[in-house]
Amino acid sequence: MCKLGKKELTKPIIQGGMGVGVSLGHLAGAVAKEGGMGVISTVNAGYREPDFEQHPFEANLRALRNEIVSAKRAAGGNGMVAINAMVAVNHYEETMKEAIAAGVDAVISGAGLPVQLPELVKGTGVLAAPIVSSAKSARIILKIWDKKFQVIPDFLIIEGPKAGGHLGFSREELENGTAQNTDEILEEVLREILPYEQKYGRRIPVFVAGGVYDGKDMARLITEGASGVQIATRFIATEECDASDTYKQMMVNAKEEDITLVKSPVGLPGRALRTPMIKRLEEGIKLSPERCNLCLKACPHGSETPYCISRALIEAVKGNVEDGLFFCGANVGRINKIVTVKALMQELMQDYETEMKGILAERGVV
Ligand SMILES: Cc1cc2nc3c(=O)[nH]c(=O)nc-3n(C[C@H](O)[C@H](O)[C@H](O)COP(=O)(O)O)c2cc1C
Repeated sequence: MCKLGKKELTKPIIQGGMGVGVSLGHLAGAVAKEGGMGVISTVNAGYREPDFEQHPFEANLRALRNEIVSAKRAAGGNGMVAINAMVAVNHYEETMKEAIAAGVDAVISGAGLPVQLPELVKGTGVLAAPIVSSAKSARIILKIWDKKFQVIPDFLIIEGPKAGGHLGFSREELENGTAQNTDEILEEVLREILPYEQKYGRRIPVFVAGGVYDGKDMARLITEGASGVQIATRFIATEECDASDTYKQMMVNAKEEDITLVKSPVGLPGRALRTPMIKRLEEGIKLSPERCNLCLKACPHGSETPYCISRALIEAVKGNVEDGLFFCGANVGRINKIVTVKALMQELMQDYETEMKGILAERGVV
């Protein structure tokens, strides 16, 4: 059991938000049904809507609302349904308001400092959680939320260097292995949150993401002080994942040597499979889009951008191997089959419980 605000997760597992379209209502609802937290990615959630090209803003809000409603319905009152909204995305506030009105339980926000988040959820009962990649970012957010809004996060997510998608580390750090490891970041973040937990008289549960593969990883991190984990890549290889079968199969077939780092137009490195589209970029071919819907704040936009990351992610989720950008975590090479969300969650929990028993027995607790 993991208490978050007034709600409880029966399994301390958050399924990481995956844009574009990889984690929508079908996956999130299935995870919540099993007692975890299912997360819908808000970025271009409406890519399948018929008017997406003409009216992306309206299409995205409409689709987001529908995905939240269907995920909540599938969850049947179990677990929690959250959204992942990146600060770097345009229409952040409108998206947040739409999700809250649609009945989401929590909002998770990273890719920038979510300094205004408490204001957006105030009085709604919706839980707010920042994603950080260092103790320094945690310190800044905690300080601002405390000073400006007199609140602390309802929970917090640490995303380490083995995660998929955009990463909060430099390419050099990632390539030469000097990025701080997740266990160290956890230790430092736990130190940062302690005075705030004491001041507000309640805990800030910390979830750790990035390369968490099995129940053993879960047990190690929870023993080190985490309240749970956030897992993304493993959930792509599930029957319920909202991505195409091609995307799922690529996760199953991928080997460690297929993984690379790609520079996103927003400036951050991202972890992905080395597919034909990335090879073209490496050859210096510019893939500027014909149309731009201004989805990302920090993107140079239009002909200025080396490639349109949203288009590339949309092609991937649809299964276009030639033109798609297939984000994945560092542990993708270990995945060898597509399973149901129920089976994956059961496997994780069984291994976690067995490992915990062993750890406690070693310490003489049982
Ligand atoms: C395909 C894919 C897309 C992702 N998209 C997002 C996103 O839109 N926003 C975000 O905050 N994190 C995103 N992430 C990061 C995940 O939410 C998660 O924190 C991370 O991948 C966890 O590591 P793991 O994949 O090794 O389990 C993405 C990851 C993947 C694999």
